[in-house]
Amino acid sequence: MNISGTTRVLGIFGCPVSHTLSPLMHNTAIEALGLDMVYMPFEVKPDNLADAVNAIRALNIVGVNITIPHKKSIIPFLDEISNDAKLIGAVNTIVNRKGKLIGHNTDGGGYIKSLGSELGFNVKGKNVLILGAGGAARAIAAGIAKGGACRIVIANRTVERGMSLADGFRSLFRDVEIIATGIKEKSLMRYVPDADLIVNTTSAGMNDKGGVKVPLKAVSTNAVVSDIIYKPRITKFLRNADKLGIRTHSGLGMLVEQGALSFKLWTGYDMPKDIVYKKLARKR
Ligand SMILES: NC(=O)c1ccc[n+]([C@@H]2O[C@H](COP(=O)([O-])OP(=O)(O)OC[C@H]3O[C@@H](n4cnc5c(N)ncnc54)[C@H](OP(=O)(O)O)[C@@H]3O)[C@@H](O)[C@H]2O)c1
Repeated sequence: MNISGTTRVLGIFGCPVSHTLSPLMHNTAIEALGLDMVYMPFEVKPDNLADAVNAIRALNIVGVNITIPHKKSIIPFLDEISNDAKLIGAVNTIVNRKGKLIGHNTDGGGYIKSLGSELGFNVKGKNVLILGAGGAARAIAAGIAKGGACRIVIANRTVERGMSLADGFRSLFRDVEIIATGIKEKSLMRYVPDADLIVNTTSAGMNDKGGVKVPLKAVSTNAVVSDIIYKPRITKFLRNADKLGIRTHSGLGMLVEQGALSFKLWTGYDMPKDIVYKKLARKR
């Protein structure tokens, strides 16, 4: 990679950021396309968030990704928020348009795209069981509701958090049945047999530690079991589903697709997703 006086900067703000695969992903795309750009990780502590946002303008940074813990708290510092980011209540991408900072959220769109491109799965008319009610669940629930699902069940350890998500979305998506429940096997058993898609959006199972307990034997033969965790690439939840012959879908595709949507917003170019996917899969 040649950095010169004309090189434009992209990056990611988070705390911590050392674990992120985004620099590898975007720099692979930048190199493959021969762009005069570089993507840098920036560890931004919560107290420094306002200064970091001003630095985007001051340093004429083209755009940044936003990750934990800033996805919500960044919103008041921005000039404009896209409809998706408003719906989700979180921003994962900022675009700098001549000093005007616009917040977007590509997580839900990226997830839906990866289901389509990897499995040919369309959420329209489907029953979906979402495990978790955090930021990623919100983005995915929004994508699935916008995609015209028939029913969305949000199963979360803290049931009240799931209920609050379900209540908010019910008033926005009146054609979709939206239900909240607990994540214990007994609660899940009511919804697993009818689910066309079961997606784990909790962090349980990250780094192969713990994991969600779903009665997989009750999953319908046509259903897809998905896990948005990408470390490990194939979680225990997916391994168990695979052993039962269930179609599975891992989190790496979502990572690449949400990244590709951000990349397009910043550069106007399509990310060379095959090259990027292979590079990330090899890395892990
Ligand atoms: N593939 C991708 O591109 C992509 C994108 C974004 C996020 N992710 C992954 O998605 C996961 C969640 O991210 P997030 O931003 O949504 O986090 P978050 O906002 O902190 O939400 C975490 C969720 O996990 C649940 N949870 C945590 N530990 C649990 C356990 N031991 N058992 C059951 N539930 C548990 C929480 O339940 P409570 O409400 O009860 O605490 C909550 O629903 C992370 O692993 C992240 O790496 C992947």
